[in-house]
Amino acid sequence: MPEAERLELRHATGVTELAVGRGRELAGAALAGWAAGRAVFVVTSAPIWELHGRACLDAVAEVASSFEVLAVPDGEAAKTPEVAAGLWQRILAGGGKRDSRVVTFGGGAVGDVGGFVAGTYMRGVPLAHVPTTLLAQVDAAVGGKAAISLPGAKNAVGVFHHPRHVVAATAVLETLPPRQLKAGLVEVVKAAALLDPRLFAELERSLDGLLAAGADRVGLVAAAQRAKIGVVERDPEEHGERRVLNFGHTLGHALEASLPPGALLHGEAVAYGMAFATALARRRGLEAGFERRLGGLLARLDPPPLPACAVAPLLRCIERDKKARHDGPVWVLPTGVGAWEAARLPRSEVADALAAFVESPAAC
Ligand SMILES: NC(=O)c1ccc[n+]([C@@H]2O[C@H](COP(=O)([O-])OP(=O)(O)OC[C@H]3O[C@@H](n4cnc5c(N)ncnc54)[C@H](O)[C@@H]3O)[C@@H](O)[C@H]2O)c1
Repeated sequence: MPEAERLELRHATGVTELAVGRGRELAGAALAGWAAGRAVFVVTSAPIWELHGRACLDAVAEVASSFEVLAVPDGEAAKTPEVAAGLWQRILAGGGKRDSRVVTFGGGAVGDVGGFVAGTYMRGVPLAHVPTTLLAQVDAAVGGKAAISLPGAKNAVGVFHHPRHVVAATAVLETLPPRQLKAGLVEVVKAAALLDPRLFAELERSLDGLLAAGADRVGLVAAAQRAKIGVVERDPEEHGERRVLNFGHTLGHALEASLPPGALLHGEAVAYGMAFATALARRRGLEAGFERRLGGLLARLDPPPLPACAVAPLLRCIERDKKARHDGPVWVLPTGVGAWEAARLPRSEVADALAAFVESPAAC
């Protein structure tokens, strides 16, 4: 077996084994035993499969009883009920049974639609994620959540369905455009800011090196996974602590849902969401220095300027957010590095702060 960091996530239905290493052969090596003699359905998108598919998964194809590559549209366009229905039908037509295997091979969007289909087809078939973006390696592939979107309601329909395996080979990140790499690092900054002060300080020291071509990112991916695993094990179904992972996502999802497709990447929208949540937190007693440190890291990740957006549609999306209850959304607000609170805020306070934020995000 190639050299790798190995982690485990224990959950109500078993254990997820996670492997993080450099070489692309890691995926085949980690999954061959699990896939041997089974019908394997790989959910992927054409560009990712062409870049890395065979190098990562040929060893799985060799031992599977059948091996079918199911391509979905690239990016967010994959996360629709129509694409999910198409996958159910193709798996059925391909002889998919309760003990078949679904492997997702791609970024968080592919992982979400593939995980959703695996969690619902025949009430759930065994799943492995082979994430190929930094964002998916550090975040989306870990924790068992999978969702598709409805128009104007990001991730509105979903399931909890834990993968049996998550295999992250950092060599595949070499082909990731720098903008995608930076957007993935935003989710690492998010987890580090509220969960892991040591990782936060490490990011401040080594961010530029992590962005360089050929950087060793195995330690980074494993550290971010470890932080998320701790939270998910303590609060698997998001009744309390797991909410922390939504830092930046309340406004982030609203931006994604209300801006034209592709205007901001997920991580970029979350970066603006974190800045906004921090501005809300400032009025409630935020540790001195937090905002400067978070802002410094996010500025180094260089998100594109916030496109013009109106407050009213953003507020509607925020209220429709799937995390919102009848009495409004729960905001994850930092109180300092490694510390946070969940708060419900008056609609008028959010509306006023948002009006100022969309006008001038940097000044907020
Ligand atoms: N389920 C969860 O817990 C969870 C958590 C966080 C985010 N998400 C979801 O993840 C999605 C975002 O994921 P993402 O940022 O990975 O975006 P993505 O899946 O849209 O992928 C981004 C782009 O990168 C390309 N790509 C992927 N791997 C590549 C590689 N190795 N080299 C070159 N190009 C590559 C893809 O083709 C795509 O065009 C969002 O839909 C978000 O809601 C889910």
